[in-house]
Amino acid sequence: MRYGASQILEKISCLNRVVYLDHNATTPVLPEVFEVIRPYFCDEWGNPSSSYRFGSKLKRVLEVAREEVASLIGAHPCEILFTSGGTESNNAAIHASLKAQPGKRHIITSAVEHSSVLSYCRALEREEDCEVTYLPVDRDGLLSLTDLENALRPDTAVVSLMWANNETGVLFPIEKIALLCRARGVLLHCDAVQAVGKLRVDVREAPVDYLSMTGHKLGAPKGIGALYVRNKAPFAPYLHGGHQERSRRGGTENVPFIVGLGHAAQLAAKYLARYDKRVRPLRDALEEGLLAAIPGAERNGHPAERIANTTNLTFHGIESEALLLLLDGSGICASSGSACLADSPDPSHVIAAMKPGPAARQMIRFSLGWDSPLDEIREAIATVQRCVASLRSMR
Ligand SMILES: Cc1ncc(COP(=O)(O)O)c(C=O)c1O
Repeated sequence: MRYGASQILEKISCLNRVVYLDHNATTPVLPEVFEVIRPYFCDEWGNPSSSYRFGSKLKRVLEVAREEVASLIGAHPCEILFTSGGTESNNAAIHASLKAQPGKRHIITSAVEHSSVLSYCRALEREEDCEVTYLPVDRDGLLSLTDLENALRPDTAVVSLMWANNETGVLFPIEKIALLCRARGVLLHCDAVQAVGKLRVDVREAPVDYLSMTGHKLGAPKGIGALYVRNKAPFAPYLHGGHQERSRRGGTENVPFIVGLGHAAQLAAKYLARYDKRVRPLRDALEEGLLAAIPGAERNGHPAERIANTTNLTFHGIESEALLLLLDGSGICASSGSACLADSPDPSHVIAAMKPGPAARQMIRFSLGWDSPLDEIREAIATVQRCVASLRSMR
């Protein structure tokens, strides 16, 4: 059979097509965001700190973006500090709490935090004489408030806990944690990188002192993020330099990306309802489809206390890396944990903290976007089923 040029092109684009189910790793820049930031590369490329108008007029642009980000989380614009992303925001918040209280060297976090919190805590233990309590989670990935309460000490400088887990989507009760920390007079930092834009995050209802977010999980570019610092919460800069960000973070502002983050925050507020209405049923269809189609499949993470877009499954006897390789060959993008640790040979520390045994080496995370199409979910179920069967037949 002979193909015409258009049929060949169609076949090639079909071969290149990916079913992207890894939105917790990163999301595409939204076309609307791209359009809004483009002029700040080509036309309005001045330095906001310059004294002439060509640069200084961009100060107003930064303030509009700050208002947009603040509005997404119920904050005041002056409580928003632009950073390079979630990692910097997490490091900066923990750093600030320690600097503000030199006599306090104890930190409380959990065993399932992102590496940007865990690695920093380990460095603080090694290099800064800090003591860190890593709270455990149960089989469903849930945290016990009693464990937290018992771990608080007079020398606790900060509690750093995530809102939504990046691997399982499991939620920690941040509102209750915030009230407890406040009652005990301990600073609270929350890594809300996976929560902001996927569920309602409001710092007036969950009175945290610091809250981290990043742009590339909500349709803005990679390399831009924000740290919310509650008015009157202590702060000491992590990056020393010029007077940018009210002397809280040195470095010329990344104007295009800040504009992009602001616009993405505005769109996130608009699209928020879709996570419950559209994404959750699709995620459930994917999860139920896979659990029904594949013998020896098990969900990791509490069924209800989760963000709407994430499912984490173990296929017993199947190593994650082998399955991911086959899925990649079939154009399915999923992951076996945090993208930041994808090069590491270690099993998932999150699943290991929840379930001792082989599950930590045998898990796959699928995370949907707010516009993931239904036909891709059907295709993913069929492909995963085929790949698991093929791996099992090789054993
Ligand atoms: C929960 C969580 N915290 C922090 C980060 C780090 O964010 P960034 O990639 O912007 O440094 C990530 C990124 O995957 C994350 O999922």
